[in-house]
Amino acid sequence: MKKLIAGNWKTNGSVDDARALVADIINKLEPDEAVLESCDILVCPPFLHIPAVRHATHGYVAVQFGAQDCSAYESGAYTGDVSAAMLKDSSCSYVILGHSERRQYHGETNAVVQQKAERALESDLIPIICVGETEEEREQGKAEEVVIAQLQHSLPPLNDFHQIVIAYEPVWAIGTGKTASAEDARHMHTLIRGELAKHTKNAEKVRILYGGSMKPDNAAELLATENVDGGLIGGASLKADQFLAIARAA
Ligand code: PGA
Repeated sequence: MKKLIAGNWKTNGSVDDARALVADIINKLEPDEAVLESCDILVCPPFLHIPAVRHATHGYVAVQFGAQDCSAYESGAYTGDVSAAMLKDSSCSYVILGHSERRQYHGETNAVVQQKAERALESDLIPIICVGETEEEREQGKAEEVVIAQLQHSLPPLNDFHQIVIAYEPVWAIGTGKTASAEDARHMHTLIRGELAKHTKNAEKVRILYGGSMKPDNAAELLATENVDGGLIGGASLKADQFLAIARAA
C-alpha cells in the first residue's frame, strides 16, 4: 500500500508562511518525484490558510491538502463552524478528526467525532480519524481497551466504497519527542486493523498512520513497521526539508 505522509500544521504561522511552506515543499519535491511512487503527500493547514495553499498547489496534484477539523452539522445556524461541504468546496481532500488536542481542549467525544466523520464522508472527504491513549492509560495497561473503544464509537457506518484513514497517535508522544517503539506501534496498528475488519470489508485497504514526534531520524524504522501505512506529522511538518526527509524515509 502506498504510504500517506500527512502534515498537521496545527495553529501555526501566517498566510504568507503557509504559502511559502507549500511552495518550498513543491520546489523540493518536483526534482525528486520518485518519492511519489511510494507515498502520497498531504498538508493540513489552518482553515484560513487553505485558500493560499490551494492557490500555491494549483496544477500540482501531487501535494494534496485538507483541514484539521470540520463541523458535526451540515449547514445552518452553527456560529463559528466550518462544514465538510465548505471544505470540499475549497478543494480539500481530507479532514483530520478527533485529534487528541480537540478531544482534550474542546471536549470532543467519540460521538461528536463520529458525527463529523459522517459529514466528511457525505461530502466526499476522506476523514483521518485519530485515536490514542494517554500516558496514564498506558501505564495502567489500558492502551488497547481505550483505542478499541475510541474506534468503536468514533467510526462512522461504512459502506464498501467509503475511504477512511486512521491515525494512531499515543497522546504521550505528541510534541514531546517521545515515540512509540516500533514494536508498540506494530502491536497497536495490528490491533486497529483487527478492529477495522469488524466495520468494513476493506480493512486491509485502510491506511493506519502513526503520529507522535515522527522525525526524519525515527521515520524509517516506524514506517517500515508492519501495518504502519504512513505518518501524521506535527512539528516536523513545518519545515519542508524535515517533512520531505520523512517522505523519503517511506
Ligand atoms: P508531533 O504532532 O509530530 O508534533 O508530535 C503529531 C500530531 O499531533 O499530529
